[in-house]
Amino acid sequence: MTTPTPDVLSEAEQGRCQEFFPTTANSIQNNIIHHLMSFQGRDPERSGASDIYKALAFTMRDIMVEKWIKTQKTYYAKEKKRVYYLSLEFLIGRSLSNAIINLGLWDEVKQAVEGLGYSLGEISEQEEDAALGNGGLGRLAACFMDSIATLKIPAYGYGIRYEYGLFNQQLINGYQVESPDNWLRYGTPWEFERRVPVFCVQFYGKVTTYQDEKGCFRTKWIDTEDVMAMPCDMLVPGYKNDHVINMRFWAARASRELDLTHFGEGDYIGAVQHKVSSETISKVLYPPDHNYAGQELRLKQQYFFVCATFQDIMRRYKKKNAMFDDFNDQVAVQLNDTHPAIAIPELMRLLLDVEGLNWEKAWDVCTKTFAYTNHTLMPEALERWSVDLMGKVLPRHLQIIYEINQRFLDQVAQQYPGDIDKLRRMSIIEEGYPKMVRMAHLAVIGSHSVNGVAALHTQLLKERTFKDFHALYPDRFNSKTNGITPRRWLLTANPELAGLINSRIGTGWEVDLEELRTLEPLADDPEFREAFWQVKLNNKKRLTDYIQLTTGVEVIPETMFDVQVKRIHEYKRQLLNALHVIYLYQKFVSEPDLELPPRTVIFAGKAAPSYWRAKLIIKLINAIAEVVNHDPRIGDRLRVVFLPNYNVSQAELIIPAADLSEQISTAGTEASGTGNMKFALNGALTIGTLDGANIEIREEVGEENIFIFGLNAEEAAFERIRNSRTPEQICRDNPEVAEVMEALADGSFAQGDRNLFKPLVDSLMSPHDQYLLIRDFESYLACQQRVNEAFLDQQCWLRMAVLNVARMGKFSTDRTIRQYANEIWGIPV
Ligand code: IMP
Repeated sequence: MTTPTPDVLSEAEQGRCQEFFPTTANSIQNNIIHHLMSFQGRDPERSGASDIYKALAFTMRDIMVEKWIKTQKTYYAKEKKRVYYLSLEFLIGRSLSNAIINLGLWDEVKQAVEGLGYSLGEISEQEEDAALGNGGLGRLAACFMDSIATLKIPAYGYGIRYEYGLFNQQLINGYQVESPDNWLRYGTPWEFERRVPVFCVQFYGKVTTYQDEKGCFRTKWIDTEDVMAMPCDMLVPGYKNDHVINMRFWAARASRELDLTHFGEGDYIGAVQHKVSSETISKVLYPPDHNYAGQELRLKQQYFFVCATFQDIMRRYKKKNAMFDDFNDQVAVQLNDTHPAIAIPELMRLLLDVEGLNWEKAWDVCTKTFAYTNHTLMPEALERWSVDLMGKVLPRHLQIIYEINQRFLDQVAQQYPGDIDKLRRMSIIEEGYPKMVRMAHLAVIGSHSVNGVAALHTQLLKERTFKDFHALYPDRFNSKTNGITPRRWLLTANPELAGLINSRIGTGWEVDLEELRTLEPLADDPEFREAFWQVKLNNKKRLTDYIQLTTGVEVIPETMFDVQVKRIHEYKRQLLNALHVIYLYQKFVSEPDLELPPRTVIFAGKAAPSYWRAKLIIKLINAIAEVVNHDPRIGDRLRVVFLPNYNVSQAELIIPAADLSEQISTAGTEASGTGNMKFALNGALTIGTLDGANIEIREEVGEENIFIFGLNAEEAAFERIRNSRTPEQICRDNPEVAEVMEALADGSFAQGDRNLFKPLVDSLMSPHDQYLLIRDFESYLACQQRVNEAFLDQQCWLRMAVLNVARMGKFSTDRTIRQYANEIWGIPV
């Protein structure tokens, strides 16, 4: 045990901190200059925006670190139960503006920076996004951190410090081309690279048994290849509450011993190669891919961060505790999807092999510690590892998984005697060639809580994905509808709207989003609507400039900004949106006098590099844009834009400028979605299916303030089997649909090439299209017509938009995190 440090800062220390850390415009400016000179060696008079950005970031970090130390000491002083949020992804984006806002220093920093001859906007633009995540799951983790800090929950985020984040996307000739995201090229001012604690992580090797001093048989994992895990901390400030937590990201480093072995043998190159190969573990974030099977490096990443995290958890736990009986009174671990589920056998290994607990006790501690969040309904996205690979990389863990499985199946067999098929379905091991370890089953069996991320998602988990498990453990399943942090997604991203809201109802909503409800009467106030419209228009003008700059396409801010930004995937149905664009195009050409509101249809999103069909959808959208944007018959009535390289900071620009939010996934496929919440909070109206959290958004805003179309989840599931109307029949019945499909098939968007988009045509026309695009197309068209009519009545549209903002209270991550804390983690908030 290490000697504990005092639990609170002494008065003298507090005094020193107060003097040292700047909180006035003047002292902030001095601190920036100090950082410029002392740490960057720059002459303040000759520094550029990027130097100022770095110096300002260090200044903010200084302020945060003091608060962080105080926060941590309080945890020790009050012996708080701690929560560990394990996630392979944290999609952070930029940190500067968010930190300044959360520290409550916006005006002071603005003044300080302007005094140096810069605007704060210009300085913020210097920051590279930290894209340590692929999409929804990673961004959710980042929003959670903000709420956890704001609610003063003793928690830590744990993940990997990827040297390369999510790839950059360029569009070349309309095709997605990937390039590496070298975000640490110039370092990041936000992290603390720490030399302690550094932990050793084992891989490969073999398992042996021995008799300990008491004569008990114990297991040991030996002859392993070892890699060191070095912590890099990033601080997360709560909103104006002096509470600062940290995310700890592990970086892989070569182990010194092995280096020395190579050197000792005179093998200099070998030593260097060993170093390089060890460090590849944290080199790169795996891009979105629904099938990681067989990728050894990904399994190693998962174990690497889990193993280091648990050594850190144990280190902290052991400072104040000697026994493990109360472990789960002190520690809660939330698994963000199955990516960290190897933590279950890892904790068992630590308790059995290192701490010497018996199986029953260890298992009891383990299941009371873990909680698992599921994020997907797509069966192909459920993680599975081949038994052979697991046995090679983590032989002891495979043994433990087999033991967990055996004991679990004995219990199932007892409960359902003779039901062999149930045993087969529920087993952690999937029998087949090759045999696979089902990580989702391991996570359900090893946790006391399994949650879905929206009401429909949880219902479908219980009825479909985990039906057998739900029958066995009905109390284990619960729902936690996702949310978004209002600090980033309204206060930071849309300062004008935040300012307008503040001027009418005050600032309480910033920490209690339900307070937005008091805006409701203002939906009928013409003056407020006018101001609201002006804010939206200003945001649209900002986006218009950005579109012009990045794509060269001129768009008109007064047109309807119809936006779909998210990962490109068949189930999210960007293709359905593209078909509507073709339909509109044909309408504008064939009926030039038709009264339809002009639209700017905006897409953005990345496709998995290996997902060729999604990449072809990107090409199609760009091909449609090419034709539509250059057709003089269309005039200014329709524009199509695909913005390259979608990321968090681009989202912050796009979302406040949207009029219409496209949330059109096939019902029963999207777990929750959080983009849908961000748009509605920023005053866009949703066109969507009854999927994920759209259902709850409809409940909140009222069905008259949202545009819903298409099959529901039950109908969609039924339709896949029954196939009552095939795409071919629909085309026969509806000439408008047929005409759209004809244009897609005849090469109208491919310079006459009928083959380019044939794979998309074939899947759309297939009677087995599992995403049911054509089946929902007519309903989508009718719904888009309702959107057109509503948009033409500007006052009616504005009323609906204001009501959407006013009714978004439920979707704050503050609410989500309160539920996790109270109902899963055993930490009353
Ligand atoms: P950790 O919890 O050991 O990771 O340490 C995080 C921070 O908490 C340290 O930098 C200290 O400021 C504080 N801290 C660590 N151990 C103790 C303790 O035993 N008592 C009070 N504060 C501590």
